[in-house]
Amino acid sequence: MARSVRRVFTYVSIFVLIIILKRQLSSTDQMSLKQPVVVVGSGLAGLTTSNHLISKYKIPVVLLDKAASIGGNSIKASSGINGAHTGTQQNLKIMDTSELFLEDTIHSAKGRGVPSLMGKLTKESKGAIKWLQTEFGLKLDLLAQLGGHSVPRTHRSSGKLPPGFEIVQALSKRLKDISSQNSKLMKIMLNSEVVDIELDNDGHITGVLYLDENGSRQILKSRNVVFCSGGFGFSKEMLGEYSPNLVHLPTTNGKQTTGDGQKILSRLGAELIDMDQVQVHPTGFIDPDDRKNTWKFLAAEALRGLGGILLHPITGRRFTNELNTRDAVTLEIQSKCPKNDNRALLILSDKVYENYTNNINFYMSKNLIKKVTIKDLVKNYDLQTTTSELVDELKGYSDVNTKDRFDRPLIVNTFGRDISPETTVYIGEITPVVHFTMGGVKINENSQVIRKNSQSVLSNGLFAAGEVSGGVHGANRLGGSSLLECVVFGKTAADNIAKLY
Ligand SMILES: Cc1cc2nc3c(=O)[nH]c(=O)nc-3n(C[C@H](O)[C@H](O)[C@H](O)COP(=O)(O)OP(=O)(O)OC[C@H]3O[C@@H](n4cnc5c(N)ncnc54)[C@H](O)[C@@H]3O)c2cc1C
Ligand SMILES: *[C@@H]1O[C@H](CO)[C@@H](O)[C@H](O)[C@H]1NC(C)=O
Ligand SMILES: *[C@@H]1O[C@H](CO)[C@@H](O)[C@H](O)[C@H]1NC(C)=O
Repeated sequence: MARSVRRVFTYVSIFVLIIILKRQLSSTDQMSLKQPVVVVGSGLAGLTTSNHLISKYKIPVVLLDKAASIGGNSIKASSGINGAHTGTQQNLKIMDTSELFLEDTIHSAKGRGVPSLMGKLTKESKGAIKWLQTEFGLKLDLLAQLGGHSVPRTHRSSGKLPPGFEIVQALSKRLKDISSQNSKLMKIMLNSEVVDIELDNDGHITGVLYLDENGSRQILKSRNVVFCSGGFGFSKEMLGEYSPNLVHLPTTNGKQTTGDGQKILSRLGAELIDMDQVQVHPTGFIDPDDRKNTWKFLAAEALRGLGGILLHPITGRRFTNELNTRDAVTLEIQSKCPKNDNRALLILSDKVYENYTNNINFYMSKNLIKKVTIKDLVKNYDLQTTTSELVDELKGYSDVNTKDRFDRPLIVNTFGRDISPETTVYIGEITPVVHFTMGGVKINENSQVIRKNSQSVLSNGLFAAGEVSGGVHGANRLGGSSLLECVVFGKTAADNIAKLY
């Protein structure tokens, strides 16, 4: 009798215990559901962070963007994303290592920036490409060699979509699908502008303040915030403060690129680094029908990487190694081309067209690239040279066996030795443009925001990833390393939030 009472008692206690445990579990569940991670900005950094938090850790996310659509500047990226020692490189028999990529990055950074962040960027580049390929089915099966790179390592996919668009589309589709199934796990709020974060007396984040679509101030309760709000290349005010000599240049950046994250975080005590390091991209397209427009389409660096060359707009002669780093090519255009309009010609063979058809068709549809015979080029562009001199100049960029006279490291898709005045080429006019801000909020290797004049973090749950952060590129970013930075540091932010959560 006593035994069976004891047994019943044991069963009852186990039952009660299970109920208590279940309650506790569901209350922590609810707790975490009440406190989603807030991700500010829906460019590639924000999309990566959100996807990794949700898919790997099932941590709920609210993604805010002040714009009416997803993608920031990331959606415009046209050359691709870097990776060293990747499967694609192996398939195409390109020998590369993360050490070589790091060397190129440090060389380009000219002593600025934070070497440990560059080490992380390059070391995790292979994993970043693999993540995009396996998680999202992106091919990323083609390569280009951009300026300052020792080998081809900038990945894009064969097919119709430009890389930024393709990647943003895949990552945002996943989030939209999840949010339509479970709005507690994933919520996307557009037209919502973050203006501040709220901290308690101990410096812990308690919430995010934002203006909703009607301009009303709202608060979202949260303990973890990731700023992925992009650069400040569109803000004349911030350029005026940090890089006044660039205020008069046109830009490729969208109008949302106004450094909101840098401003909010520095007000809270974050360290800013390399803010005066602004990348001027040598090739923004001049629209012949709208020359003065201060916003310009980018002439992707891949155009040069795949074989395009630059000509002086009056003499019709080459004047530089087109595959030098962006700062160097820009300086050459500014010092050697006419000062009044800072203009050069970008000229492509039909082989470049074959390797980059969809993009070039797009530029042609916008009237930014034209297909002309060499003879008509001389006539229509007012070159002070003869057709046969121009033919000779183009032939000069064609012999793979001799050293290029400007030490260009890669000679591909040349015009060939058989060209004549009747040969057709592709031509656009370009000028240097404000493109990317290397500086930003200083972060550590966990993507956490660093406090001013110290090594410590500003607040445990405060992260930044992507162009809003600084230190990853030093004085000059290599083409393709910015999309990479978004993936590497976005994933890192998510991994570290999971540890705190
Ligand atoms: C034309 C062009 C071509 C490029 N091509 C390449 C390339 O081929 N390869 C490469 O690596 N890099 C390229 N870059 C650079 C690269 O695209 C960007 O630097 C990178 O995508 C930045 O990503 P991000 O996520 O940090 O910011 P973004 O993609 O700019 O996204 C930031 C988002 O934050 C939002 N936001 C800003 N402030 C707030 C706020 N207060 N509240 C809420 N939301 C806010 C913005 O609306 C925006 O949607 C290119 C850039 C341009 C402009
Ligand atoms: C903004 O105002 C409109 C019209 O009054 C309303 O329908 C909408 O819900 C408001 N949005 C928010 C976020 O409150
Ligand atoms: C250009 O395209 C051709 C044909 O598809 C291919 O063989 C070649 O490797 C490509 N070259 C570059 C530099 O991408």
